[in-house]
Amino acid sequence: MTPEIRKAAELLRAGGLVAFPTETVYGLGADASNAKAVARLYAVKGRPADHPVIVHFASGEQAFGWAREVPQAARKLAARFWPGPLTLILRRSKLAQDFVTGGQDTVGLRVPSHPVAQELLKQFGGGIAAPSANRFGLVSPTTAAHVREDLGDEVDLVLEGGPSDVGIESTIVDLSGPDAVLLRPGGISEEQLGTPLRARAADSPRHAGGMDRHYAPRTPARLVPTHQLDKQIGMMKDRIAVLAFSRPDERVDYWLRMPRDPAAYAQRLYAALRELDSAGCEVILVEAPPQSAEWAAVLDRLQRACTS
Ligand code: TXA
Ligand code: MG
Repeated sequence: MTPEIRKAAELLRAGGLVAFPTETVYGLGADASNAKAVARLYAVKGRPADHPVIVHFASGEQAFGWAREVPQAARKLAARFWPGPLTLILRRSKLAQDFVTGGQDTVGLRVPSHPVAQELLKQFGGGIAAPSANRFGLVSPTTAAHVREDLGDEVDLVLEGGPSDVGIESTIVDLSGPDAVLLRPGGISEEQLGTPLRARAADSPRHAGGMDRHYAPRTPARLVPTHQLDKQIGMMKDRIAVLAFSRPDERVDYWLRMPRDPAAYAQRLYAALRELDSAGCEVILVEAPPQSAEWAAVLDRLQRACTS
């Protein structure tokens, strides 16, 4: 146990806000049982009060204490993927109060695998409410430096844990109803989940990832199919930044080349969007990845980043 993590757990107990690394993205944590601490968390994030947050735990057993029913499907997924980048939505127990569920009768539960998150959760002992540690609607942080840039002095402590391995948020599966529903594609692909999933219905519970413009840079961004990239670049009169698979083009002011492997791409995605956003260009062009299932989570984030 490092002194830093002990201090972080003490701050949480005192109602403070602690940013910490997870394998997906950095989270902004507060004691999930403390209404005042969670209210401050929402204020710092600039997040509307009716948007629920995910509650994090050291173990599945602890997490399930916050659910009043744990279906067999949830136990199966938890046994396979926890600790890891999976969030389960279950019917809540009394422990999950309105201020973390946004007033809904369900709660989002996650057991992260990052060793620093694990140590913090064990040391703290309870549930830590944690959205991604960025301002509402903007690109999630994958390093401690990103968190400091975004939230600065408004966080009591930022724990270091290196760049996040997965790089995009957890996969969210809603098991509170009769069918399993995929609410957000993420770190674990549908194929890996291996459970039959229903696509999200238009009237399903409100969740931030479900809003169109989310995970977005401030600079307007546009998704461009590979075969149109060259032509689009030729047509642009503004200063442009490009995120692409191919080699840099001399006409372009700022070019970032991305890996052709979806996991490696996801790992770098948010840092790349931040870098392009600060390049001082008027437009960001993003070469569209393939439409295949293994790119689903990356494509989801890119589509949101490119919605103006
Ligand atoms: O990877 C992740 O999940 C990261 C790390 C920090 O764990 N957290 C994260 O949290 O992405 P956040 O708050 O940025 O996104 C959580 C999503 C939101 O879209 C939220 O509305 C949804 O989960 N959510 C939480 N509880 C829910 C519930 N009871 N029903 C439906 N959606 C829920
Ligand atoms: Mg977020």
